[in-house]
Formats: sequence, C-alpha cells, structure tokens
Amino acid sequence: MKEAIFLEESLKKIYDPSDFREIGHQLVDMLADHLEQVQSDSDIPVIKYRNPEEELSYWKNDLSSGSSMMDFYKEILDRSIHVHHPRYMGHQVAVPSVISSLSGLVTDLLSNGTGVYEMGMASNALERIVTDFVSQKIGYGTDAAGFLTSGGTLANLTALLAARKAKAPGLVWEEGHQENLAVLVSEEAHYCIDRAARILGFGAKGIIKVPTNSSFQIDVNVIEEYLEKAEQDGLVVIAIVGCASSTATGSYDDLAALAEIATKHNLWFHVDGAHGAGVVFSEKYKHLAKGIDQADSVVIDFHKMLLTPSLNTALLFKQGEESYKTFEQRAQYLWDSQQSREWYNSGKRTFECTKLMMSLKAYSIIKMYGEDVFEKNINRLYDQGKVFAQIIRNRDGFELLMEPEANILNFRYLKFSDSDLNANNSKIREVLLQSGKFYIVQTMINEQRYLRTSIMNPLTKEEDFEALLDEIEIIAKSL
Ligand SMILES: Cc1ncc(COP(=O)(O)O)c(C=O)c1O
Repeated sequence: MKEAIFLEESLKKIYDPSDFREIGHQLVDMLADHLEQVQSDSDIPVIKYRNPEEELSYWKNDLSSGSSMMDFYKEILDRSIHVHHPRYMGHQVAVPSVISSLSGLVTDLLSNGTGVYEMGMASNALERIVTDFVSQKIGYGTDAAGFLTSGGTLANLTALLAARKAKAPGLVWEEGHQENLAVLVSEEAHYCIDRAARILGFGAKGIIKVPTNSSFQIDVNVIEEYLEKAEQDGLVVIAIVGCASSTATGSYDDLAALAEIATKHNLWFHVDGAHGAGVVFSEKYKHLAKGIDQADSVVIDFHKMLLTPSLNTALLFKQGEESYKTFEQRAQYLWDSQQSREWYNSGKRTFECTKLMMSLKAYSIIKMYGEDVFEKNINRLYDQGKVFAQIIRNRDGFELLMEPEANILNFRYLKFSDSDLNANNSKIREVLLQSGKFYIVQTMINEQRYLRTSIMNPLTKEEDFEALLDEIEIIAKSL
C-alpha cells in the first residue's frame, strides 16, 4: 500500500482564505488611512530619511522581533517615500490611482504569467485593447500593434533589437555581428539608450550622441554631419532615437524633423516617450510630440504620466509585424510554432517569459474614470509646471533654467557667491531630504547644479510650490 505523503498544517496555512480576508481588510484600512493622511496633512513628512546602514540594521532585527504583520506593514509605510504626498516632486514615478493599485492586488493573487495565451486569457485580451487604444492616440494606422513590458528601459532595448532586425545588413540574430552598428541619439537621452546600444554589442562607438540646442532638444541641423562622420568611421547607423521628452529638462525633440531624416537615410525611427509621450492623449499638449505617428516604434510608460504603479510600459510598433520578428527562435514547449504571429501569445514579442498582468492596471483606470482620464492628468501636471515656473520667476533670488515644456522644472537659488553656488544648492537639496518636508532631486546642467522637480501629483497646489520656495530661502539663510 502506498504511504500518503503528509501535508503539513503550516503549508496549508499559506493559502488560508480567512487569513487573506482578515489581514487584507486590516491592510486596506491602514492604506486608506495612509492615503487620507498624506493627502490632507502637509506636516506629515514625504520621507523620513534614514541612512542605508541604519535602515539595514533595523530590518536585520525585524525577523526576530516578534512584531505582528500589521506592525510590519506600518513600519514599511513609515520607512518608505510617499508618492501620494502633494509635496512629493522628485523622480518621475506616477502617483498610482487607487483603482490601479487595487487591480495590482488582484493580479498579484491570480499571478497569471500572460506570455502564453491561456496563462492570462483576460489580461492578454485587455493588453490588446489597451495597446490598440494607445496606438490610435499616437495616430498609427490599422497595421500598428504593441504590447506591455516591464519598464521603459527594457522597452527601449526591445525596440532597438527590433530596429537591428529590420535595418542591420547582416543576420545578427543568427550569425552575430558582421558590421559595426550604431544608433544616433541626443546627448540628453536617458542613459538606458546608451546602455541598450552597448547591450546590443555596438560598443561605445555605436552610440552617437548629438549635441542639443539651447532648449536641450537634439540639434537637427547637425545630424547629417554626424551621419556622414559615422560612415567615414566605418559605422552602419541603423536607427535614430528621439526623446519625448528628455529626462533632465523635459525637452521634446523635433520628432517631425527626425522622421524626415530617418526616412531619407532608411533608418529606424524610435521615440523614447517613456516620460512624455503621454501627451498624445491631450488635445492641448499633443503638439509637443508632433511627428510621433511617423515613428517605427514608441515607448510610453504608464507608470510615469499615466497613473499606474510601476512597472507598466507600452511598446508600440507602426508596423505590428516588426514586433514579431525581434525574437525569432524556437521555444517549442510554449507554442506550436514560433513562425505564426498571434497577438494573444505576447511572449513571442517580449523579453519576459513570465510577465506581470500589467494590462489590468491600465485598463481599470480607463474603465473607472473614463477615456479622457489621461488627458486630464497630463493637462493638470503640465499646466502646474507652467504655474510653478511663473512662481519661480516672480521670486527674488531664484533662477529658472528654462521655460518648461513638460512638468519637469530645473531652478536654483542664486544668493550665494559664485564659488558656493553649486555646493550650496546641493546642500539645500540635502537639507530638504533630511527634513522630509518636500522631496525634490538635483541635476548638473552645463556644470551647474540645479534643483529639479517633476510635478507628478495632480493634487500638488500653488501653495505647495510657494512653501517649497519659502523653505529653500530659510535653508539658504542657515548655510
Ligand atoms: C526619457 C526616459 N526614458 C527611459 C526611462 C527609463 O524608464 P524606466 O524607469 O521605466 O525603466 C526614463 C526614466 O526616467 C526616462 O525618463
């Protein structure tokens, strides 16, 4: 007789529905209280900064502390930065809408893998609907297609892989590199483009950085020169990448001009719109990305301007067919045929094998708040960028780097001697971080230190901007 294998009670407990219900109810209440507090009480810090060693040592003791799960979650809240706080104005991370966070709970419980149709039937169908919706807003035709993937960095790499497949003279995927390939991009592009080119095996020479004009947009007048020089150097340029917008200053490249150059030279035209391509949803601001509909591929992060938790990125192709060619290899255990091109087996086109059910988080926002929700958010954040710019300009002692095109602003406090300017603006940011009253970041532009803010929270108001500048003046006086 076969001996039954004993199933430990403690293992059964892992899936106990009553635990899920009990802890879940308490947790949702705790998170709702947290949201209420950070949105209504500006005295609550955006961040309670602790240094890395202190943080590590706290958590090293946690497992043996005997504290409850609720104590644990409370501590996690206390020791995390609060993006829902209206005075969070730092890195470009969306303030997730509540419905997308709740959809996240659903997807984390279901944990469908989505790469293969039946491992995510609903999420694959929703992914098709969401990506078709974005394609239509870009202005693409019916041949367009796309998918969701884990972040702008990965999406840009995937797009450049597709570009290589389409434009490299040799069969790189099958036979390795035959030529010295290269991509051309603005010197203001996000570092992930540089990294992608190197991952693709192009080396440092294979990332050609074109200088920018005074508005930090790629200087389209010198691109021909750079292409000629590349040819003389024995490089085969396969793609031009446009920024919509750039990370440091939120500048939009002239996409229409880039499209023209790409067509003339038979290059792939890719738009890194991780941050700012969301303007395609806005009647008021879509002019910033004029020409985006001519791009062969576009990246848009839902987790930046489009209200979902990280990570959640759309990669769209003007010719959907191109997206199937990127990874043509056998994965027999997954699909009957690698050659067939079904929209519903998204793993054929993505880096990921197992992939998060991202589509639910984007789709639920549209379902709950309506199709124009993204437009409203973009308009509010970009409008607030202009309001803040005006406030900075009106304040004695402050300098605004440039009129913002997007919701990203760079400015500095000037009432220091020239030799102290950079160091003291850095100190201002450091003191702000330590106090936790605001969260902003900093950047170097033309060797000058600037304080950098991204207005990510539609609930951030004029009084928050004024209060930030007041606080900077107080800190500056204490230096
Ligand atoms: C223009 C741009 N591209 C790409 C990225 C990288 O995107 P992700 O953080 O989703 O990987 C960023 C991030 O800030 C960005 O601003």
